[in-house]
Amino acid sequence: MQLGRLEELRRLREEARLGGGADKIAAQHEAGKLTAWERIELLVDRGSFVELGRFVRHRATEFGMQERFAYGDGVITGIGEVDGRRVAVYAQDFTFMGGSVGEMHAHKIASLIELAMKLGIPIVGLNDSGGARIQEGVDSLKGYGEIFYRNVMASGVVPQITVIMGPCAGGAVYSPALADFIIMVRKTSYMFITGPKVVKAATGEDVTFEELGGAQVHAEKSGVAHFVANDDREAIALTKRLLSYLPSNNVEDPPYVETDDDPYREEERLNSIVPDDPQEPYDVREVIGLVFDRGTFLEVHEHFAPSAVVGFARLGGHVVGVVANQPAHMAGALDIDSSDKIARFVTFCDAFNIPIITLVDVPGFLPGTAQEHGGIIRHGAKIIYAYASSTVPKITVVMRKAYGGAYIALGSKHLGADVVYAWPTAEIAVMGPEGAVEIIYRSAIAAAKPEEREELVRRFTEEYRRKVTTPYYAAGRGYVDDVILPSETRRVLYTTLSYLLSKRERKPHPPKKHGVPPV
Ligand code: HXC
Repeated sequence: MQLGRLEELRRLREEARLGGGADKIAAQHEAGKLTAWERIELLVDRGSFVELGRFVRHRATEFGMQERFAYGDGVITGIGEVDGRRVAVYAQDFTFMGGSVGEMHAHKIASLIELAMKLGIPIVGLNDSGGARIQEGVDSLKGYGEIFYRNVMASGVVPQITVIMGPCAGGAVYSPALADFIIMVRKTSYMFITGPKVVKAATGEDVTFEELGGAQVHAEKSGVAHFVANDDREAIALTKRLLSYLPSNNVEDPPYVETDDDPYREEERLNSIVPDDPQEPYDVREVIGLVFDRGTFLEVHEHFAPSAVVGFARLGGHVVGVVANQPAHMAGALDIDSSDKIARFVTFCDAFNIPIITLVDVPGFLPGTAQEHGGIIRHGAKIIYAYASSTVPKITVVMRKAYGGAYIALGSKHLGADVVYAWPTAEIAVMGPEGAVEIIYRSAIAAAKPEEREELVRRFTEEYRRKVTTPYYAAGRGYVDDVILPSETRRVLYTTLSYLLSKRERKPHPPKKHGVPPV
């Protein structure tokens, strides 16, 4: 081969790697961000990355675009391995035209998603982009449309993770929003439909980028972000950890990992974790920490809707999705946000063959006009829909309260849980004994002498608790399969899970195109 051709290729590769040029790379570093290549190299195993579309160029001609191009068109796409498992990766290159999405840039991403679906491998997007490339007009919008379409087609087929590592504004937010998980980097990333300037013009409101759409806001208030990281490196490390819990596609099981944590370990502490006073809180994260394999709990939506806790963990090495009420926040009551959080997580687990373990201590749905007017009915229904339609192994443990609609919604037998356990401290009924007594004994209490009322209420409450809310009542009907000692929860869950792993849904469902979930 002519030496000149080899030299030319080397030069072109070098040029392609430089993206928008050395100055822009320096500016990227100055802003506290890594470059697209540096991010990819942190993510994938050394030497494993195969780049696709390295020499793709835009074909825009207006607004001086003929003279302005970079090989790759501002996005690196390809396949690599993360801890030995294949992953499709794209990384937007902010150094070329602010990582803006032109026709060909979008085409590369859309093609990658298609390839990932064919290969059955997860897609990781490293986003850092000024949005639709203004010079390319509707060609750019078409490109976004094609990405969104493929995000939807890939949903439930392969896991999709988007890491926001820079700007993400306007309609561009919808590709991440269609993915399964969003990780945002503090301070350097933001997401919004319209930026602070437009907000000011439209509403007169003064708001900063961070206040409007920074990582913390989306992790805590909107729930758009599932995870936050302090910098690019942490975001990549988090991506790798998240991937370690996920199967590559919807026909694979999640990755099993050997553990030296004894699955039969008994935990005495669990026997005293639920306080005697039913109004007293405790931290359900402590329960999770004691029951599942040590150090394996990866909390999803940690800062959002804190009355529920969801996340991935391992039990005897098997990946499970954990859903729990958090009595330490609003007594664990379900509100609009926690309903959304639980429903989405359960739906994800079901799509990707991840068994669901639900730890229940729920006084009910949160009362009040704010919740009612915000649509708690509609949002709460999502939990029921998610549990009832999911077919993965489902095991539920009622730790304390399980009242009313919230009892049914949270992994009850009636919605298809395979096995339900209760601790002796469980209280399962239409409502708590105090409320129940007020209603059913109202006239008896009113007829009693005033000095006898307190004692009467106490007696009725105790009787109601003993006869109705006791877990043995529900167990007597078979709604609870067994009442177990809290200390043996890990062993019982592990053995039950091992038996349920062979579960395949054989129940005939009526044929339909799809249901209509209460979104
Ligand atoms: C073309 C863009 C661009 C864009 C940035 N650039 N965004 N070029 N189209 N959308 C270019 C800039 O001209 C600049 O080029 C380089 O990228 C870096 O941008 P700076 O402004 O210098 O960087 P910074 O100060 O960090 O600000 C970044 C920014 C800002 C906040 C993203 O560039 C910005 O506001 N851009 C426009 C964002 C926007 O309105 N996008 C459209 C959103 S609507 P030079 O030549 O100077 O290096 C959308 C619709 C999608 O995306 C619809 C899908 C359905």
